[in-house]
Amino acid sequence: MKNLPLKNIALIVAAGSGARSGQHVPKQYVMLGGKAMICHSVSAFSDHPNIDATYIVIGNGQESIAAEALRGITFDGLIIGGDTRQNSVFNGLEYISNIISNANILIHDAARPYLRHDVIDRLLSALDHHSGVIPIMPMTDSLIILKNDVMASSLDRDNIGRVQTPQAFDLQLIYAAHKKARQFREHSYSDDAQIFQAVGHKVATVAGEAALHKYTFAEDFMNNSKQQFRIGSGYDVHRFAKDEQLWLGGIKIDSDIGLAGHSDADIVLHALTDALLGALSMGDIGDHFPPTDPQWKGASSDIFMKHACQLATENGYTISNADITIICEAPKIGPHRLKIRQSIADILCVDLDQISVKATTSEKLGFTGRGEGMAVQAQILIERSS
Ligand code: CTP
Ligand code: MG
Repeated sequence: MKNLPLKNIALIVAAGSGARSGQHVPKQYVMLGGKAMICHSVSAFSDHPNIDATYIVIGNGQESIAAEALRGITFDGLIIGGDTRQNSVFNGLEYISNIISNANILIHDAARPYLRHDVIDRLLSALDHHSGVIPIMPMTDSLIILKNDVMASSLDRDNIGRVQTPQAFDLQLIYAAHKKARQFREHSYSDDAQIFQAVGHKVATVAGEAALHKYTFAEDFMNNSKQQFRIGSGYDVHRFAKDEQLWLGGIKIDSDIGLAGHSDADIVLHALTDALLGALSMGDIGDHFPPTDPQWKGASSDIFMKHACQLATENGYTISNADITIICEAPKIGPHRLKIRQSIADILCVDLDQISVKATTSEKLGFTGRGEGMAVQAQILIERSS
């Protein structure tokens, strides 16, 4: 736990079963952007400089799935929830009130993963003047009252707000309000602001955010299981040398002139390996295979390419496509193009149509134009489903 006295506490409720979401696990444990949904809001609170402790309420029986999802994530305590959201929040408040007497509390749904610090900042500032504050969003659609499926009247949407979480309160006041609300047995409340207001307190509002949208139905997950794309580029140059072989994309080209280099000087695979490492933000080929290391002398460059592929796979990425441009006056690349593409596709374990190889001269200009060496540019796109 962070240093006492604790001023601002976060309480995340994650004890629901997500019945409406149609997911194979309770929705707060579904993977979003590479981590379980619950981790997003836990980190948003833990990383905030003015949040002193973060507690999480999980469902009875969710202990092991929660432990797995939260591995490596910083928080201050786990509490077992109840059969309704209201009861889960109550359990959390009871637990926290037993160890902390005076604080602000921000109560948040784990089902709203994308919590930005500016919402927390607005709530904390408003708490300087109010004992209860909620984020709200304006209504954009018109609102009507229905009677037997027919429009009976309309509402003035300017006086209507859509309520989000976190909802921020004085800890003692919201705990007392929850205790009182338990006496109204017939009524259950869908959030804490309703309870706070029902016992006579004022609830102030600040601007919410569209990103705080609550994941509820299966389509919420479809919209957000979008692919994540990353792009990388690579460039390499090698000098022509007599008595050297010419390897391009894993294919030995019949040529009386080759490229000089520490390894087999496969300039195409070097540029493409750098592009893939770049897409992963994992340095460059020299970081992974230092040219000073004798073990890479004469090495076949598909080792480098396969290593970068392995890193991509380990991080959940697949290759969308690669586009390579070879710049030289000679040899002519056209006759070898298909073989080079197929070889690269085989090394990357992708289809031929995912690999493009183009060639150009530099109009006799510069080192490539004078036939002193060859240059290659490579771009690669990788994707991962969140
Ligand atoms: N929640 C909770 N305890 C419950 C029910 C809900 O802590 N007994 C939490 C959910 O985990 C969620 C938040 O309250 O973070 C908002 O509830 P909701 O969106 O209704 O989630 P679920 O109850 O899990 O979903 P459903 O109603 O579809 O079953
Ligand atoms: Mg629910």
